[in-house]
Amino acid sequence: MSLATRPPAFTYLRSKLHAEKVPMSRLAERFSTPLYVYSATAIRRRFQAFDKAFAPLPHTICYSVKASSNLSLLAMLGEMGAGFDVVSGGELERVMFAVPMMAHRVVFSGVGKTAAEMDLALNANIFLFNVESESELELLSERAAKLGQRARVALRVNPDVPAETHPYISTGLREHKFGIPIEEAAALYRKAASYASLDPAGVSVHIGSQIMEMEPFAAAMQRVTGLVNELRAAGHNIWCVDAGGGLGIRYEGGPDKDFQADVKGYAAAILPALGPLGAHLLLEPGRSIVGAAGALLTRVLYKKTNGGKRFVIVDAAMNDLIRPSLYKAFHQIVPVAPRPGPEEVVDIVGPVCETGDFFARDRSLPRLEEGDLVAILDAGAYGMSLASNYNSRPRAAEVFVEGRKAKVVRLRETSRDQVQHELDL
Ligand code: LLP
Repeated sequence: MSLATRPPAFTYLRSKLHAEKVPMSRLAERFSTPLYVYSATAIRRRFQAFDKAFAPLPHTICYSVKASSNLSLLAMLGEMGAGFDVVSGGELERVMFAVPMMAHRVVFSGVGKTAAEMDLALNANIFLFNVESESELELLSERAAKLGQRARVALRVNPDVPAETHPYISTGLREHKFGIPIEEAAALYRKAASYASLDPAGVSVHIGSQIMEMEPFAAAMQRVTGLVNELRAAGHNIWCVDAGGGLGIRYEGGPDKDFQADVKGYAAAILPALGPLGAHLLLEPGRSIVGAAGALLTRVLYKKTNGGKRFVIVDAAMNDLIRPSLYKAFHQIVPVAPRPGPEEVVDIVGPVCETGDFFARDRSLPRLEEGDLVAILDAGAYGMSLASNYNSRPRAAEVFVEGRKAKVVRLRETSRDQVQHELDL
């Protein structure tokens, strides 16, 4: 096993894993485990890499809140000039708590917006609604009219572009539930323009997540550009294009030191088609901003051998990080203080009562002993935001590290937190 890490977030200094300049073992002692640890520097650099790569066009990087929705993270990104992509009233309220007065940088996506969520977003005066069906368009026009507002809308079009990724997170094909078939878009824009309470100002697209090939992004953008030209020719004032998120990270391929180059490659796929339009570009990256900047720190509870198979049972579980169980996702796992000597092939599993509660299967790792700490890397995106209380396990604490400083940005849940809505009924 290589001990490839994720600079500047997680690296070995004097053979001990550090988050920036702070030893992970110290974080475990101070804040206990399981613990989500994020590098603020890595997050900032990644956001800046996006900003720089897309500098040739007027743009707003709308961080996709679903990837990780901690208020301190949202506040940090907001201060750096980020906008936000939200998919629920709850996410919108998080943004409003974290960064007051920033709703005008919010885009609202999702196939199932309720009337109450629309009202919340209309009253907050968000920047853009990404509308995904004719029925949604009708309801939005009604709600906006009722509130005396004019809602800026983009239709999320489905470009029918295949993208190599896990089937659960690919979204850009005709048979997926997302968006409006691109051939039907022109008619729906005509309809949108007929409502005084709607302002059809943009086109949006999102073809899926964890996409490592750049061609699908380029193909989708070409189709979107064709549509924008067609809509403009029909008299619509389309001045913004939302290119969605989806840029993948290298879970298996060791460190992605050259993130700047990856984002440049992504920009090179998108910009040529868009440049000539002179539109304002919106992007919705989630994973690529926070994925590699976060790790789940956990402690070995027990070792056991069953039927010749070695198990290492750690104190984190599928309720903390569900990606391996849900998508068979690979996460690199590294010991905080690697032991010398031969490696062992083990399954790393959690305490939850499900065979699917695993982080790695048949993985060769430096020998681990009870009490050792390990870090599950690339857990910053869709880690904590997908965490649950399954088995009535309290959700983990979250810590931000910057240089030599560490601060808790979310307290570990208590049993009382978990039952508070059931007490005193
Ligand atoms: N915009 C829209 C409309 C989306 O649906 C998504 C992700 C994003 C932006 C952000 O995509 P990203 O840049 O993070 O790839 N839980 C899965 C990923 C689900 C992605 C859902 N939509 C996982 O753990 O891999």
